[in-house]
Amino acid sequence: MVITKKQLNKHMNELIELDSQFPDAWNKKNFLMDLPSKLKYSRLIFHTTNLIAYMICSKKEDYIHIHRICVREGFRGMGLGKNLLDSLPNKVSLCVDINNSAAFDFYVANGFTTTHCLMRKEK
Ligand SMILES: CC(C)(COP(=O)(O)OP(=O)(O)OC[C@H]1O[C@@H](n2cnc3c(N)ncnc32)[C@H](O)[C@@H]1OP(=O)(O)O)[C@@H](O)C(=O)NCCC(=O)NCCS
Repeated sequence: MVITKKQLNKHMNELIELDSQFPDAWNKKNFLMDLPSKLKYSRLIFHTTNLIAYMICSKKEDYIHIHRICVREGFRGMGLGKNLLDSLPNKVSLCVDINNSAAFDFYVANGFTTTHCLMRKEK
């Protein structure tokens, strides 16, 4: 289950391509950044040799924090996202964009509740 830096490097183009859908898309440096217990709790899923899902996590206080989670279009709704979440220990945290209602509903369906709300004002 544990991933390696070598795997991240090998599939870097696919990670960057899949992540490019997010407004705050990660680059190579982001994906390779050292974070506490990152390789232990992050996951990659393949279909044949192609990357179809990834989840990048690290340990934050008592929680495993999900920094990125994504399932490739065409492979969604098949339980892969749930499998990724289920592979983690009990205490899990994450931030989700309030406008990403599909992801928000996915987390609620998987037992998450809202504990914080980040508010912003731009003049
Ligand atoms: C969100 C995402 C990771 C979910 O992965 P997935 O593999 O499609 O989800 P699953 O098939 O494991 O769904 C598990 C359960 O979550 C719920 N769910 C999943 N997608 C949902 C959606 N779009 N709306 C409502 N509920 C949803 C369902 O209840 C589902 O259970 P079911 O099979 O009984 O219907 C995936 O859709 C994705 O990559 N989205 C784009 C990237 C993204 O927004 N990532 C999150 C950033 S915070």
